[in-house]
Amino acid sequence: MQTIISKLVNMESLGDERGQLTVLEENKHIPFEFKRVFYIYGTISGVRRGFHAHYKTRQALICVSGNCKVHLDNIGRTEEIILESPNTILILEPNDWHEMYDFSPDCVLLVLASHLYDSEDYIRDYDKFVEVYGE
Ligand code: TYD
Repeated sequence: MQTIISKLVNMESLGDERGQLTVLEENKHIPFEFKRVFYIYGTISGVRRGFHAHYKTRQALICVSGNCKVHLDNIGRTEEIILESPNTILILEPNDWHEMYDFSPDCVLLVLASHLYDSEDYIRDYDKFVEVYGE
């Protein structure tokens, strides 16, 4: 079973005496179909990355190893989220401006994305973000 707290989904681990296993199926545990998977790892200490929102892309972030933090900005509402379990999924909507930081040396941040890579789908300018998603 899964419990939903805000945008965080806590997954059940299918563990037994051999170890742990977590499964993610599209339109079930992940609320969209994913066309792209990428992962961020080997991040240098002190680096902050992301700094964008999207027009269309929805994403699911899972820290499958180590931990990191995510700064979310929905214009008027900001939130700092700690990802430190391979069973915790953070769902990001297109209008979630996000920045990832405080990566542990062993952090592997897995990202499932609803669309193929398209640089035109990125909003990298904060003023543009406010223009597109603000009141
Ligand atoms: P970048 O967007 O800078 O990462 P972040 O916003 O998370 O800090 O991505 C780094 C490089 O990888 C950049 O040249 C774009 C490229 N890239 C792809 O080609 N395909 C992808 O799916 C992603 C996420 C990035």
